[in-house]
Amino acid sequence: MSEVRLLLLPGDGIGPEVIAAARQVLEAVGTRRGYHFLFEEDLVGGCAIDAYGTPLADETLARARAVDAVLLGAVGGPKWDHLPKAARPEAGLLRLRKELGLFANLRPVRVFDALADATPLKPDVVRGVDLIVVRELTGGLYFGQPSELRREPSGRWAVDTLPYREEEIARIVDLAFQLARARRRKVTSVDKANVLNTSALWREIASEISARYPDVMLEHQLVDSCAMRLIARPRDFDVLVMENLFGDILSDEAAVLAGSLGMLPSASLHGRPPERPGSSAIRFGLYEPVHGSAPDIAGKGIANPIGAILSVAMLLRWTLADEQAASAVEQAIDRALAAGARTADLARPGESALKTAQFTDRVLEHLEETLSS
Ligand code: IPM
Ligand code: MG
Repeated sequence: MSEVRLLLLPGDGIGPEVIAAARQVLEAVGTRRGYHFLFEEDLVGGCAIDAYGTPLADETLARARAVDAVLLGAVGGPKWDHLPKAARPEAGLLRLRKELGLFANLRPVRVFDALADATPLKPDVVRGVDLIVVRELTGGLYFGQPSELRREPSGRWAVDTLPYREEEIARIVDLAFQLARARRRKVTSVDKANVLNTSALWREIASEISARYPDVMLEHQLVDSCAMRLIARPRDFDVLVMENLFGDILSDEAAVLAGSLGMLPSASLHGRPPERPGSSAIRFGLYEPVHGSAPDIAGKGIANPIGAILSVAMLLRWTLADEQAASAVEQAIDRALAAGARTADLARPGESALKTAQFTDRVLEHLEETLSS
């Protein structure tokens, strides 16, 4: 039995519902593959503001540093919307990412065959899509200084700053090339080099790094046309790498391909991935579904747990280097969907929808098979 320490931060809204589903999946995997998961739990976001007076307590951050991985649900909600930026639930998540140095955010987008017609796009356009957005997560506009909003007698005024240092760009682009080597060997570097200096630097560095990877193809693409191509010809893409805000925006857009924002998982890491999954020991990561707290459906038990469960698969892949368990989880979802299981966000009008717990049970049933094959 190998012991794995995990910190669960369910957060706000539907966070606790999808994290409960993810935990069940982890427990099932643990039993079959010999992991003894030691779960700890704490608060982040709005619930932490209510209980501790801050969206991320120092004690919670210290606990996150002490575990092997963190699994987070979602933060935010209308209750805390009136707060100033630095005191909002989102500030807790941003501090967690920054303090833990998690500069690499991996957001894979895979279209499950059974869901090719669940999107507003034509099934022929989305079928077979398998891409990954690599988002720089600890720099750029999210953290650049100065950043402030002033209310002066002469009028209101605000500023945000978009800075990038050479090393910050190089390490994330390098990671994208590493990932591409284990995939279809194509990197699309996304920028706005026709307008922004940071993007001109980004493009220069991406070209330099690509020289070290002659086996991987590099293309540069402007972010505006990339947004268009992402839904017009999504199969063109393998690995996309970009700065923080571009990645935030394009990853939500890419979720449309998968059928629902509830589908996407993410991993936030701080180093190079192992050359080959399966080749390295435990590495720390923060895993979270890409979707938000969805306050409109919170507490109803109808949230789609797929993003959270696929985040468990990423945890198995990147923190535990257990590719077999990771793909067993992904296959269990694939089979549940193929057998017709749908949550409300995926069901067509008139089609019956499963609640979060029922859908999770279906995944667990298939997991029994996929883990033993
Ligand atoms: C995301 C979210 C966050 C972000 C918010 C909640 C701060 O939209 O993870 O994509 O902007 O990074
Ligand atoms: Mg976002």
